[in-house]
Amino acid sequence: MAQKNIKKGVFITFEGPEGCGKTTHAQALCDFLKGKQIDCVLTREPGGTKAGEEIRRLLLHSSGIEMTSLTELFLFEAARSQIVDELIKPGLKAGKVVICDRFTDATICYQGYAGGIDIGSIGSLNEVATGALKPDLTILLDVDTATGLSRAMSKGFDRMEKKEIGYHKKVRDGYLKLAKKYPERIKVIKVDGSIEYTQTLVRREAEKIVFRKHKRTK
Ligand code: TMP
Repeated sequence: MAQKNIKKGVFITFEGPEGCGKTTHAQALCDFLKGKQIDCVLTREPGGTKAGEEIRRLLLHSSGIEMTSLTELFLFEAARSQIVDELIKPGLKAGKVVICDRFTDATICYQGYAGGIDIGSIGSLNEVATGALKPDLTILLDVDTATGLSRAMSKGFDRMEKKEIGYHKKVRDGYLKLAKKYPERIKVIKVDGSIEYTQTLVRREAEKIVFRKHKRTK
C-alpha cells in the first residue's frame, strides 16, 4: 500500500490481564508498521518518560514502601499525565502511530473493578490526566487468569502481580465488561493460538483502523 495514503496520528493501546503477551505483540506490531514505512512510537504505562519510569519503579519494583490504594491511583495518573503531554500528544500531532502498552482502561480494571475504587471517580481522573484523549483502537489480549499468571511468574512477580488470584480474576472480568461497553474501540483477541497467529489478528485490527482513518480524511 502506498505510504502517502496513511492517515496520520493514530493512537493504539494494548491491554489485558497479566501474562497476556501484550508487550511482545505491541513490539511486533510497531516493527511491522515501521517495516511499512509508517512512523510508529512504542511506549508504555506506567513509564515512557523519565518521570514516568521513576514512578513505575516506585509502583512496581519498590520494597518496604507502604502505599494506600489512592496513593497508587494518583501515581498511575501522574505518570499518565506526563506521558500524554510529553510523548503521546506530540507524537499524534506529528502524525505518528503511537502504540501504548496499557492506558486508562488499566486503571479502571486494576484500581477500579479489582481494587474497589469508584469507577466514576477514576473516569474523571483519567479525563483530567489525558485531557480526554481516547485511543482510536484498543487491542485487548484475553487470557485465562491462571494461565496468564503462571506465564508472568516465569519472569518474576512485580508488586501488582503479587496480588491474589481473585484480584486478577476481577481485572480480567473488568476488561471484558469494558469491551462489551465499547465494542467499536476495544477489540478482544483471545490468546489461545501461536504467537504468530495472535499477531496476525492484531495486525488485521490495526491495519483496519490505520487505513480507515485515512479514508475518512482523504
Ligand atoms: P506491565 O508493564 O507488565 O503491564 O505492568 C504494569 C503493571 O501495572 C500491571 O500489573 C498493571 C498495573 N497497572 C495498574 O494497576 N494501573 C494502571 O493504571 C496501569 C497503567 C498499570
